[in-house]
Amino acid sequence: MKRIIVAIDGLSSCGKSTLAKGLAKSLHFAYLDSGAMYRAVTLYFLENNINYNDPESVADALQHIEIHFERIDGQNRTFLNGRDVEHDIREMSVSNHVSPVSAISAVRRAMVAQQQAMGKRRGIVADGRDIGTVVFPDAELKIYLIADADVRTSRRHLELAAKGIDAEWDAIQRNLLERDRIDSGRADSPLRQAEDALVIDNTLLSEEQQLEKALALVKEL
Ligand code: DC
Repeated sequence: MKRIIVAIDGLSSCGKSTLAKGLAKSLHFAYLDSGAMYRAVTLYFLENNINYNDPESVADALQHIEIHFERIDGQNRTFLNGRDVEHDIREMSVSNHVSPVSAISAVRRAMVAQQQAMGKRRGIVADGRDIGTVVFPDAELKIYLIADADVRTSRRHLELAAKGIDAEWDAIQRNLLERDRIDSGRADSPLRQAEDALVIDNTLLSEEQQLEKALALVKEL
């Protein structure tokens, strides 16, 4: 398999990371979870009481943030300043602040630069909101995933429960819709479908079916 870049974008909880992980495994590529990076920055801001509405505080804090990924027992784990934060970044407290934090241009500049550095070797599947439009505009395959909002909420609910994170279905849906609104409406690199992206609606698809569809697209390249 040629070392290509696969970019997957879409609204919150539409199955991007499930598809990205599945594709990365099938193709023996690396997986880049760009949302985890914005979540890690948000966790840092919350834990250190950084006023993210103050540009100087943000610029200063960004100097003290180091994020990297490690694969441990076959799982992708996110590290913030040397600490495994894979669990903590999925908490609702982080979900409730991550959209305003990721709308800050200084934050985006820092994260996008790291993501592009990780993509240099190619052979990568990345998911997020601006992967096909801003981070890897020359990706060989761009997928724009869509799914019904109730289905997305139920999937998120199950996923959080499996991780031992307790959250009400309604609170999850409010958070998803609010993030969709902010992520799609922000001035700097809003979520949108790249012109050359292919749409997969997975509302009625199983994980295996969506992976099959995406692998078929890879084969067509
Ligand atoms: O993929 P996720 O739900 O874990 O992402 C969390 C938030 O991070 C999302 O609501 C918006 C932001 N994000 C972004 O702005 N750009 C990306 N490429 C990925 C995520």
